[in-house]
Amino acid sequence: MKSIEGLCSLESKVAIVTGAGRGVGQGIAAVLARVGADVVIAEIDEELAKDTQRLVEEQGRKALVVPTDVMDEESVEKMLQAALEAFKHVDVLVNNVGGVARPRMISISDMSLEEWDYTLRFNLTSQFLCSRALIRYWQGAGRPGNIVNISSLAAMVPYKTSVAYGAAKAGVINMTQTLGGMYGQSGIRVNCIAPGHVKTPITDALYKGREDVRAAQDRIIPLGRYGTPEEFGKVAAFLASDASSYVIGQTLLVGGGMHYFLTELP
Ligand SMILES: NC(=O)c1ccc[n+]([C@@H]2O[C@H](COP(=O)([O-])OP(=O)(O)OC[C@H]3O[C@@H](n4cnc5c(N)ncnc54)[C@H](O)[C@@H]3O)[C@@H](O)[C@H]2O)c1
Repeated sequence: MKSIEGLCSLESKVAIVTGAGRGVGQGIAAVLARVGADVVIAEIDEELAKDTQRLVEEQGRKALVVPTDVMDEESVEKMLQAALEAFKHVDVLVNNVGGVARPRMISISDMSLEEWDYTLRFNLTSQFLCSRALIRYWQGAGRPGNIVNISSLAAMVPYKTSVAYGAAKAGVINMTQTLGGMYGQSGIRVNCIAPGHVKTPITDALYKGREDVRAAQDRIIPLGRYGTPEEFGKVAAFLASDASSYVIGQTLLVGGGMHYFLTELP
């Protein structure tokens, strides 16, 4: 039986991971390095990025920190240029940046147009900007490429606490299908991960002082716990590597089975 390093090898590949400074993105960057990729850490917070840089380098891989705002067109273009200058090629893009605009639950009645616009730009437009830059590059260079988008379980069910987040993440799934179909023939594969609940600084902050809610959630997740960033890294390694060579336009729901019992979710 091959190990994940063998089965999902990204040896001699370069992967851009957006928002890799902490949480899911950091877990993905660390696992992609473990399976052989050099990693471009496209992160708005340089201090956080240094932590991930250390994790990548511990795997014996190169890490390039590029301070980037994925919501800004020019910043995304500069990030790609910096990656190409450093590594000469890029093979994988993980569109990870996203989240609820501010870490709190918000109903539609309380949501301003500004917050709606921000949430769509943060979760959906950012992925459009990065995907467009990479697809233009891969097509121009005649190279294959691989995109892994991060959506959310919130895309698949009515998500009454943040209508903008659910809508943006549903857009990510549709964009995955469309781009997957459009660019498969060019050797560019596009797939997506929809996480359930992940233990990250954001979810820790969200449920601070409400540990009872968190414990109740754990009880209804068939695996009995939140996922870890590393577990999403392993799925990203599968989708980004030849282990999934015949998979296009798909969204993998990765939630420890929590979607079975959503109606009971506190
Ligand atoms: N945490 C969860 O339970 C959960 C569940 C479902 C989906 N997700 C999705 O997983 C992804 C990562 O979530 P997380 O919880 O790890 O988030 P997080 O907030 O912990 O980490 C996001 C990272 O992105 C960086 N970032 C923020 N804005 C940026 C920008 N404009 N440009 C570049 N970098 C930027 C942050 O500095 C941070 O390092 C998101 O798309 C989120 O929607 C998370």
